[in-house]
Amino acid sequence: VRTRVAIVGAGPAGLMLAHLLASDGIESVVIDRRSRSEIERTIRAGILEQATVELLETTGASSRVRTVGTRHDGIELRFAGEGHRIDFAGLTGRGVWLYPQHEVLKDLLEVRLAAGQEIRFGMTALRVEDPDSAQPRVIASDPEGRPVTIEADFVVGADGSHSVVRQSVSGSHAGYFREYPFAWFGILCEAPPSSDELIYSNSPHGFALVSQRSASVQRMYLQCDPELDPESMSEREIWDQLQLRVDGHTLAEGPIFQRDVLRFRSFVAHELVTGRTALIGDAAHTVPPTGAKGMNLAIADVVLLHRALAALLRANDARPLESFTTVALERIWKAQHFSWWMTSMLHTAPDASDFDRRRQEGELRAVVGSESARRFLAECYTGWPFTTEL
Ligand code: DHB
Repeated sequence: VRTRVAIVGAGPAGLMLAHLLASDGIESVVIDRRSRSEIERTIRAGILEQATVELLETTGASSRVRTVGTRHDGIELRFAGEGHRIDFAGLTGRGVWLYPQHEVLKDLLEVRLAAGQEIRFGMTALRVEDPDSAQPRVIASDPEGRPVTIEADFVVGADGSHSVVRQSVSGSHAGYFREYPFAWFGILCEAPPSSDELIYSNSPHGFALVSQRSASVQRMYLQCDPELDPESMSEREIWDQLQLRVDGHTLAEGPIFQRDVLRFRSFVAHELVTGRTALIGDAAHTVPPTGAKGMNLAIADVVLLHRALAALLRANDARPLESFTTVALERIWKAQHFSWWMTSMLHTAPDASDFDRRRQEGELRAVVGSESARRFLAECYTGWPFTTEL
């Protein structure tokens, strides 16, 4: 197989990159080890920054985001039994959209396949060869286990946090790394929304997040031990824990039909570009989920890399690619800070002392009591403008 850009991973980053490249007439092949239906069923994040929504809309990637998605103009921070609204619209003039990631994927797959995009499902990338040369190659194995070579002018690793492309070009541990002593137990349930906006709740029993998916399906998370078996808690125990942790606010309960445990980590790869290979999205960086930065950060990478690749492949100008890492890392580290901050401010560390707990409440009181601090949180949450300057 021969193409201009070989993209490993049909997640939001890989598919959006293929979509933007196509608008410049740059052909690409996307491969993913999963089937189309597995990709469309992967339950992930739910919050899109305003700039992500605008990009999906103006590039024709999703016509449903504004009609099926719902705009949220704020969130509630809860602690010590009281809720405090962070008014995004009033503080920044911006908002976010609740539109699940798998809906973004359905839209992108439909648009790209209708346009004749080559997407190879069930194709597992094994390694990248000659990433430093003008003709890098992806070696993959097809659904029957037969080897396939994809020759390209450029290779992009959009293959998630366990990226094969990253391991192949720079080794699996080549990055800045931080782990957290907790995880999220996530559930989907059949129930009406429990509140108009998302609730981020700090409590002596641990953190809880009340999110939504639709008028009849809700998504909620409980801070838990990373080793928790999601089947070990009864529905009653889950609801009691959620209710305890959003104390003072009554949740609408309903049957729980999906459970998963999400591990937390912060990671930034040392190298985003190696010769004619680049990493984007979770392959380049992972953030803990608090604050919903992951997918938005992936889309911001795509906007920049698209600019760099258009210059390289259409005008033979490599300068934008040389600035890509510096410009992308500025946003990546801002998002790393925000995700770490929201995580550490809202969760209870298993070894927290009385001092730590009182300091944390002081921090939360300082944030909700200061318009400047609330505005900082709102700016980070709604997202910094996408840059295309390279
Ligand atoms: C969701 C996930 C997040 O990490 C977050 O901060 C808000 C919402 C969600 O899955 O709905």
